[in-house]
Amino acid sequence: MSTVTFYASGQSFQLPDNSELMEIENTSQRELDFGCRAAGCGTCAIEIIAGLHNLNAKNDDEEDMLDRLDINGHNRRLACQCRVHGDITIKPLN
Ligand code: FES
Repeated sequence: MSTVTFYASGQSFQLPDNSELMEIENTSQRELDFGCRAAGCGTCAIEIIAGLHNLNAKNDDEEDMLDRLDINGHNRRLACQCRVHGDITIKPLN
């Protein structure tokens, strides 16, 4: 299992390893919003505070959207494009 922790509130959620990060939508607390779910809107932009190495690599669509939003950086991700295989701490940017 992987633990996803929200930096500001400290709330954390468990996901099976290799889950899509979008699956936290199925948990009771919503601290992260999703829109298109396809790297097309930027609603789900997050900063990875800890555990960046526990995510899949960025794909081209994600890189393009982060560039368009002018928020691309090594620790910036679109949550809808992330798979989790270890503990992470995140901070929503929207
Ligand atoms: S939900 Fe639209 S970019 Fe992630």
